[in-house]
Amino acid sequence: MSGAILSVRGLTRKFGGLTAVNNVDFDLPAGELHAIIGPNGAGKTTFFNLVSGFLSPNAGRVVFDGQDITGMPTHRISQLGVARTLQVKSVFNGLSVYDNVWIAAHSRHRFLHPLKAARSFGATADAAAQALATVELTSRAGELAGNLAYGDVALLEIAIAVAMKPKLLLLDEPVAGMSPEETQRTVRKIKELAQSVNILLIEHDMEAVFGIADRITVMTQGAVLCQGTAREIAHDPRVQEAYLGVPEDD
Ligand SMILES: Nc1ncnc2c1ncn2[C@@H]1O[C@H](COP(=O)(O)OP(=O)(O)OP(=O)(O)O)[C@@H](O)[C@H]1O
Ligand SMILES: [Mg+2]
Repeated sequence: MSGAILSVRGLTRKFGGLTAVNNVDFDLPAGELHAIIGPNGAGKTTFFNLVSGFLSPNAGRVVFDGQDITGMPTHRISQLGVARTLQVKSVFNGLSVYDNVWIAAHSRHRFLHPLKAARSFGATADAAAQALATVELTSRAGELAGNLAYGDVALLEIAIAVAMKPKLLLLDEPVAGMSPEETQRTVRKIKELAQSVNILLIEHDMEAVFGIADRITVMTQGAVLCQGTAREIAHDPRVQEAYLGVPEDD
């Protein structure tokens, strides 16, 4: 497990009779940009929910950066350095773009320097400005988040996560609903971002995934079907079968 920023063993989550995540083992080597793909309902978002503490597992362990975080509350896991974006985009529409990012940056500094709230304002402002620059939204800082185009909202969500200075960033379908131009721009940003932060992303857009990921994990029915490079995954008959939902003829 050495060298892994995230290590998961036997992770399982049931909803009544449905096992949404079923005995998953997973290692994310530090520095690797990794994508999780799989058909609808495969358990991808549930996996993120378990890693980030939105849900507790029925069984299994999650080790982040050498520390067992299994079952810890979300805020604690985020303080340790895991940030995520949601599949359903959620920013404060009534606040400016800048304020959305500032709040995220401030929550981080308030945790690190609880007795220096006033003095940490400069650092908060720096982190907020930096996060906006990362996704090229600096020129939109004063606008209401609710007035942004869809693709920019998705980038703002990434900026909010980046402002928390995470060690691991979980992106749930970052380019879903984007135009081809917005997708290209976001893919480029994610690649740049991956130079400085570990990124694990869920994505349905295969072109984006194959262009972005060092390695890919395919999930079906709660379990890991296979892992490999884009080339390996694209040529794996099990993957085609999983997506088409029909067994191959012999
Ligand atoms: N809170 C919940 N309560 C009950 N069932 C749930 C809950 N969350 C997820 N599920 C079920 O667990 C299974 C996995 O869902 P999940 O959202 O993790 O899939 P996914 O791979 O992210 O799918 P998609 O690609 O459509 O986002 C689905 O059958 C889903 O209906
Ligand atoms: Mg999902």
